[in-house]
Amino acid sequence: MTSQQQLSKRGFSAAQKPMRVDLEIYYKALENTYHPIDNPKGSFPMNMAENHLCWDMLRHKIESVTREKPIPDWVSSYGDPAGVPSFRETTAAFLSEFLIGQSISSEHLAFSVGATSVIEMTAFLLGDEGDTAVIPAPSYPVYTADIGTIPGLKRHNLQTHQEIHELANGFPIKISQLEAAKAEIEALGSKFRMLILTTPDNPTGGIYSQEQLQVLADWCIDNGTHLIVNEIYGLSRIDISHPEIKDNYPNPIPFLSFANLMAERKSPFLHLWYSFSKDLGISGFRIGLVHTYNEALLGGYRNAGLSHAISNHTQWVLQEVLEDREFMKEFIASSQAALTQSYVTVVRQLKALNIPYNPSYGSLFVWLDMSEFLQENSDQGQEDLWLELFNKTGILLTPANGFGHQKKGLFRMVISGISHDDLEVAMERFRIFVLGKRQ
Ligand SMILES: Cc1ncc(COP(=O)(O)O)c(C=O)c1O
Repeated sequence: MTSQQQLSKRGFSAAQKPMRVDLEIYYKALENTYHPIDNPKGSFPMNMAENHLCWDMLRHKIESVTREKPIPDWVSSYGDPAGVPSFRETTAAFLSEFLIGQSISSEHLAFSVGATSVIEMTAFLLGDEGDTAVIPAPSYPVYTADIGTIPGLKRHNLQTHQEIHELANGFPIKISQLEAAKAEIEALGSKFRMLILTTPDNPTGGIYSQEQLQVLADWCIDNGTHLIVNEIYGLSRIDISHPEIKDNYPNPIPFLSFANLMAERKSPFLHLWYSFSKDLGISGFRIGLVHTYNEALLGGYRNAGLSHAISNHTQWVLQEVLEDREFMKEFIASSQAALTQSYVTVVRQLKALNIPYNPSYGSLFVWLDMSEFLQENSDQGQEDLWLELFNKTGILLTPANGFGHQKKGLFRMVISGISHDDLEVAMERFRIFVLGKRQ
């Protein structure tokens, strides 16, 4: 019996598609990670979007909660599939204070296990099978599986630019590009159901200005298209006033959460995604949410969401942590300072080497252009360069395959997965690699 006969058509299709292209080599890199004394020739896995910079600080807080606080009775029972009321309230207050800057109601939040599950649930409830989600390229590769595997939506990569320097004054996304994408999608018999933006962005670190979001929101509302803004990196922001980098931002764009525009418009077509995976560095906790004024979406979420519900124990632990506002203030400030230090370490070297990169406002990444080293301008050429860098230096980046961008030779570097000292060593190896290639 072939594996095709052992599975449904859907199951067989899922069995053919690994979640991402770099998993196997990532596990290999993890088995041999760098240590200054025990393994000085070891590798630097810098491909997985994890933030370990302030985990020790958060770990102590979590340990004190679980040691000192009695577990409430509700933790052992079924709860609201969209999040228990006390956790929803605490999170609404946290987001209001730290991310949004104005008060939002817990009634407009629904939770599930990580942004991954929130994206899947939202796509499932807003789109029909065969509909299309438009996503400006380059963007998070796993959106394809999140909106595709179960909801059955297709991904349309909107090409807004070719070269990294075209991002210098923000994302060059135009209404005419959306109109053209709509016509193209409709000509294929599909529907332009949603536009997905990520700000700060994965992988470029760019952000959308308020004026841009307003124009895009108006176009979406007028066209009956959903606009979803993913602010999963909303608090992972770089201090762009840092003296070593401030000149990279001649026309700085202020960050303002999309939730502010949503509060003004209160449209059923505008939504925001968030998750604690990145800003708090707890991807293993699996906590994500959608914020929306679309009551029908919230109702559907509750009715269909049980299989995606977060463990009550996890909700309780995080609720206790978030309620300590003083701790959270200190944590977010420490995390942003640590992230900025990592960022400066990386771009100092890139600048000295003349490797093009996009000046980042936030996220855990630097998006860089190594196309000058491509032997062949193709996916294969890109993969060869990615592997060569790993084999010679132990540095594992994320190749651009799956990010949907036309240009080859671009890579994403995750700057928050290793310590500052280790990052210095990694960047020194990177320098030697680049100089060696240029000789
Ligand atoms: C843009 C974006 N959305 C969603 C996710 C998934 O987040 P979670 O771990 O909360 O499922 C990631 C993780 O890298 C991401 O970068």
